[in-house]
Amino acid sequence: MAKILIIDDEPSIRKALAISFRGDGYDVMEADSKRTALPLIEKEEPDVIVLDLFVPDEREAFEILNAGKEIKRDTSVIIITAHGSTDRAVEAIKAGADDFLEKGFTMDEIKFRIVKLLEQKRLREEHRQLIAEYHRLRREVDERYSFNQFVGNSKGIKDLLNLVSRIVDDPYTTVLLQGESGTGKELIARAIHYNGPRKDHPFVVVNCATLPEHLLESELFGYEKGAFTGAIRDKPGKFEIANGGTVFIDEIGEISPKVQVELLRFTQDYTFERLGGNTPITVDVRIIAATNKRLEEEVATGRFREDLFYRINVIPLYIPPLRVRKDDIRLLINHIVEKVDREKGRQLCFSGDALAKLEAYDWPGNVRELENLIERLAVTVPHGDIRVEDLPAEFRMDADGMDFDSSLESFRSLKEAIREYEKHIISRKLDEHHWNISEVARILGERRDTLSRKIKRYGIK
Ligand SMILES: Nc1ncnc2c1ncn2[C@@H]1O[C@H](COP(=O)(O)OP(=O)(O)OP(=O)(O)O)[C@@H](O)[C@H]1O
Ligand SMILES: [Mg+2]
Repeated sequence: MAKILIIDDEPSIRKALAISFRGDGYDVMEADSKRTALPLIEKEEPDVIVLDLFVPDEREAFEILNAGKEIKRDTSVIIITAHGSTDRAVEAIKAGADDFLEKGFTMDEIKFRIVKLLEQKRLREEHRQLIAEYHRLRREVDERYSFNQFVGNSKGIKDLLNLVSRIVDDPYTTVLLQGESGTGKELIARAIHYNGPRKDHPFVVVNCATLPEHLLESELFGYEKGAFTGAIRDKPGKFEIANGGTVFIDEIGEISPKVQVELLRFTQDYTFERLGGNTPITVDVRIIAATNKRLEEEVATGRFREDLFYRINVIPLYIPPLRVRKDDIRLLINHIVEKVDREKGRQLCFSGDALAKLEAYDWPGNVRELENLIERLAVTVPHGDIRVEDLPAEFRMDADGMDFDSSLESFRSLKEAIREYEKHIISRKLDEHHWNISEVARILGERRDTLSRKIKRYGIK
């Protein structure tokens, strides 16, 4: 409950106020002079002070006002003045009082003022908290997308970051990020944005792979009411929303010839019109495009416009797949484990053998796949020590795709193990040769009918 301190040397007024405020549930304190008031302000930190301007004289009242404000700046002070002395009230306001009432006020009047002051105080506090929260989030974003969150010590990554560091400061260079799925293209794009001069403006993502042509157009350029059925109001596009900032055009290799033309036109002077509109709009954005296709090949085969390719390929950045920079795997594991530990309150630790398996693996889904695996392990492995047995089957396989080490114990006899191996080999060869049984029989040096029998017996499908 809010605390109110009443400072008045006249006991009857003080008591009357105190009783009434207490009746409303406030926590009320009383003082009759500077000597009794200041310790209370210091110790109790009242939210509101009601101060008679004549306790016992004006000089002392002003001293209380000044000292009080010094002790606790966010305390609101209501001054009570004698009738017809607004000039004194103005002085008090100048000295830091928040409001004043002339003697003869009603109880309702003073209570109303108190409620108002408390409300203002609450808003100020909320505002302060929001600002603090904003700065905290801001720091978090800066930290999350700082380049030291992009882990890698391989030559490929060092070269990449080197190149990036030379272009972040230029707000206008267009960047084309190429790399397989899950290599960190979006992470790099965000890092470029949040470390460059546009960082206080929006970073806007458009994913071209998930949108059909007409939606992509309206997503990029926006539309005006009535542009098509369903356009019931004006809607700005991503280029407008991103003004001042960065537009990340993801999977640019997927866009249709028509949108390619529109994009090309846009990149000439960063001017466009909304769908169904005819007012040219000019924006100031940096374009970062990404693709997991080889865009040069798309150009060679005519699927991607050459002129658009050159327009966006001003700074080509290539993120190599994880399998060609295996020395990054351990670093990434450490980085991801640290993050997962923090988020899930775990303490994951990989055995040497398990790490070796992870390093030997080819990671077709790149860092994303590694991240998913560790997150899954954090949930599924009850103890934090992850050994080879805890890894999914594909990691426990031998080079030819079978998990012999860990299944050895489960065979009851050598015969059974051999049968298991035979089944495995046959089924793999069949897959490799599109179930051409004659061909597989020839490769394995078996008669065709023998092989057919074995296929049936083992139930290979
Ligand atoms: N070098 C890296 N260091 C730390 N985290 C990384 C690194 N590379 C990728 N990641 C993480 O891996 C995940 C996939 O990255 P991101 O989404 O940027 O990949 P992408 O290339 O955009 O993939 P896609 O083509 O599938 O969209 C993200 O969670 C990202 O934080
Ligand atoms: Mg992506």
